Amino acid sequence: MSVIKNLYYSSVGKKYIMAISGLCLLTFVIGHSLGNLQVFMGKETINRYAHFLQSNKEILWLVRIFLFTMLVLHLWTSIRLWFENRAARPIGYFGNPTPMSSTFASRNMMFMGIVLGCFLVYHILHYTVQVSDINLIGKDFSGAEFQIKGQRDVYKMMINGFSHPLVSLFYILGVGGLCFHISHGAHSLFQSVGINSQYYHRILEKAATILAIILFIGYVSIPVSVLTGILK
Ligand code: HEM
Repeated sequence: MSVIKNLYYSSVGKKYIMAISGLCLLTFVIGHSLGNLQVFMGKETINRYAHFLQSNKEILWLVRIFLFTMLVLHLWTSIRLWFENRAARPIGYFGNPTPMSSTFASRNMMFMGIVLGCFLVYHILHYTVQVSDINLIGKDFSGAEFQIKGQRDVYKMMINGFSHPLVSLFYILGVGGLCFHISHGAHSLFQSVGINSQYYHRILEKAATILAIILFIGYVSIPVSVLTGILK
């Protein structure tokens, strides 16, 4: 027990927690994107997939609890590291408030995290809890209109959900925040666990940027396709 406690209270331990929780969350984000893209394969495909995810409640709740724990660990540890870093360097770099090696994404990790948190709360209320007041079109996604043969019509929910430009815009901003976060987080994840030679640093930085761009295009393609009438 004291080994875990010591690890948690050390800076290296916190970086490992950030890396492991970040990796778990990133795996979910990649999987969720691939799952959502099935909307382009038609109504039956995406509805079958959504039904499969919902059909085993025990596994669903285990995954939800696991992801939530990872999210809390990631958030809590990042706040603690942020305070530790501030305490270690309270007045910033002399004559150079923005270190040359830092990027826009790295300097704004905390801000992006907050944008992402707001997006996530909205998203879960929108599609999982299905609160009608926030979908801006006044439809009840849990009602009979969004059911086919007693099962949820997730396809119709997505089309309706993104039909309001403001909602789609909020999703695009939220996913943009997520991808900025990933573009920095995904490569610092490897640095945290000790893979930090110049050579690998540059490769990982590029790989993280490419991954973030692919994820951005994948996620954003859905609201954009609904707004432009490609998906209807
Ligand atoms: C355009 C982008 C997105 C679309 C179309 C989308 C679609 C959906 C849908 C339809 C659901 C409800 C699934 C169901 O209840 O059957 C859902 C749930 C969820 N989404 Fe997304 N999503 C998007 C972006 C994201 C992003 C970027 C994240 C993470 C950062 C995310 C995280 C989640 C989570 C955590 C749930 C709750 C899963 C559950 O426990 O039921 N989504 N999403």
